[in-house]
Amino acid sequence: MFKVKKMVLALSLLLAFFINATAQSQSKEDACFRPGELWMDNTDTHVNAHGGGILVANGRYYWFGEHKSDTTSSAMVGVMCYSSSDLYNWKNEGIALSVVDDKNSDITRGCVLERPKVVYNKKTKKYVLWFHLELKGRGYNAARVGVAVSERVTGPYKFLRSYRPNPGIYPYNMSEEQKKMTLDIKDYRKSWTPEWYKAVADGLFVKRDLQSGQMSRDMTIYVDDDEKAYHIYASEDNLTLQIAELTDDYQGHTGKYIRVAPAGHNEAPAIFKKDGVYWMITSGCTGWDPNAARMFSSRSIWGPWTQHPNPCIGKDADKTFFSQSTYILPVQEKKDAFIFMADRWTPRHPSNARYIWLPIQFKDGIPFLKWMDKWDLTVFD
Ligand code: DGJ
Repeated sequence: MFKVKKMVLALSLLLAFFINATAQSQSKEDACFRPGELWMDNTDTHVNAHGGGILVANGRYYWFGEHKSDTTSSAMVGVMCYSSSDLYNWKNEGIALSVVDDKNSDITRGCVLERPKVVYNKKTKKYVLWFHLELKGRGYNAARVGVAVSERVTGPYKFLRSYRPNPGIYPYNMSEEQKKMTLDIKDYRKSWTPEWYKAVADGLFVKRDLQSGQMSRDMTIYVDDDEKAYHIYASEDNLTLQIAELTDDYQGHTGKYIRVAPAGHNEAPAIFKKDGVYWMITSGCTGWDPNAARMFSSRSIWGPWTQHPNPCIGKDADKTFFSQSTYILPVQEKKDAFIFMADRWTPRHPSNARYIWLPIQFKDGIPFLKWMDKWDLTVFD
């Protein structure tokens, strides 16, 4: 009996060793990306920067993202910052923006703080952090954007305010006729009917929220070649995307904004520009569950935006390889090299969510995404 026990123990140890040795994770000193695997930072801990974005500053990449806890998707810590010189190996730079214990603060611990993006403003020499904010205990109803600033890239960032953009202002691409229409949400109790679609396209939700400001959920920030910055966000009950111009200091909205794909149900916008064309990849709206990505292009940020087929091809393309877009990173010192960054959410264990980074490839000038188990930056050469 004792012998059998000993043998079982030896076998278990052998098995544990084998599993450990074959387990894939992207660890320090790695020089490749392994989409979907654990991604270890300099302290041998899985990177905790979800729904994130990347800024290049002082010759380094800075990755900002949501800190996720083990048991809740609410913000218990805040926005994390990591830095890297090669995109493979990341150093934990700590908390860039911390949630607070003051119950009266918009960013009180337990609020929902998602999709942080940082940009640098050359005029003010300040780093500006924008994020989607939901007030604690109010589900996703507040639909606000939040802004914080810092003089140092890694922070600490000082929270300025949260709000709904552009109250009292009609979109730039809304016709005079649409502005004059009387559209009352109470008259459209039934969604997804042809009348309802038409009313949404004509601005039913824009009008509903005209005085409070437009709803602002999933978001990104894009700084164009001429230094103008734009806030791109899921608005109008997640039915319609909006693109809004930011003020010169990148700390507010100018009042100029457009609507894109009314009633198209897009979120998770990510954008890049190549050869004078803006490409935007989004997802559908299925909560934490993956769905098929969508893609749009335009020659002007102000549209018109044209929708293309799903940019993903191959196995699991209809689920964006079980992920959801968050950012598109132009790789430094490489021409036309863009990395599609996405999240594979794990809402039952939020901190375990994985990063799906894939190179954007082009066929006849049109972007496409294909799964890769493992890849490195030489794919761009
Ligand atoms: C999908 C969004 O893209 C995420 O950022 C998050 O808000 C979840 N929905 C919440 O269900």
